[in-house]
Amino acid sequence: MAMLEAKNISVRFNTPHGSITAMQDVSLEINEGEFVCILGPSGCGKSTFLNQVAGFIHPTSGEIRLDNKLITGPGKERGVVFQEHALFPWLTIGQNILFGLNIKHRPKKECNEILEKYLDMMGLSAFKNSFPKELSGGMRQRASIARALANDPRILLMDEPFSALDEQTRKKLQHELLNIWAKTQITILFITHSIEEALLLADKVVVMTARPGKIYKIYDMNKYSRPRNESSNEMIRLKDEIKDILSQTDHPTRSDEIAC
Ligand SMILES: Nc1ncnc2c1ncn2[C@@H]1O[C@H](COP(=O)(O)OP(=O)(O)OP(=O)(O)O)[C@@H](O)[C@H]1O
Ligand SMILES: [Mg+2]
Repeated sequence: MAMLEAKNISVRFNTPHGSITAMQDVSLEINEGEFVCILGPSGCGKSTFLNQVAGFIHPTSGEIRLDNKLITGPGKERGVVFQEHALFPWLTIGQNILFGLNIKHRPKKECNEILEKYLDMMGLSAFKNSFPKELSGGMRQRASIARALANDPRILLMDEPFSALDEQTRKKLQHELLNIWAKTQITILFITHSIEEALLLADKVVVMTARPGKIYKIYDMNKYSRPRNESSNEMIRLKDEIKDILSQTDHPTRSDEIAC
């Protein structure tokens, strides 16, 4: 059985101008240890989907189960990393990483071991006592990943985590994330706008289309061994194919979306 099962998810948002169908009848299974990337045009419902898995919002119809348990709200078994780091500016990097842990009810030694482990894993050991504003964008995202991992989640939910970074830092963090994934064997749901990023990282690439958000095609990437070369003929072919699918779905207009 899949670790995460989303069955026939539809989401409607009520706004002062009418209601918007953000997703319609989306079903997706994610297996334990799988790295799944979702690609799709802006507004197709990628974040809406991730936010439901995180438990921040609820589907209008359908259900999402993690380990066969219905998701009804946020939980520590789901770690979330957003596009913009969500670190607390008044806490040090070390305090931020420890924030989600129930430090009052855990032995100090255990907390310190967890902290050192993730500082080391993300190359941040020298910045334990620094504040977020003293770090570069890439380092802040590393700290966000460390904070999400410190709770030892079953699944890491990442919403365009590298989109705000420069190309070089982005490539470096992609490489580091693949290493962490291989080392921890954690399950990852990763949203991106970059076809290259999805092709480079994922076991499964889910391509969504808009009006309203639906899954158009799922690519099984397991047949392409890692590290993948984005200039190989196979990757260029896949990239062109996905680009074509995405270009067929224009950005939704208000009149397309709103049904009063
Ligand atoms: N809280 C909300 N209230 C009303 N409409 C919403 C809400 N959240 C999302 N939407 C609408 O639902 C649709 C899907 O939004 P969502 O943020 O999931 O898209 P996305 O695929 O993540 O886009 P992007 O790539 O730009 O981040 C959009 O039309 C958006 O306007
Ligand atoms: Mg989004």
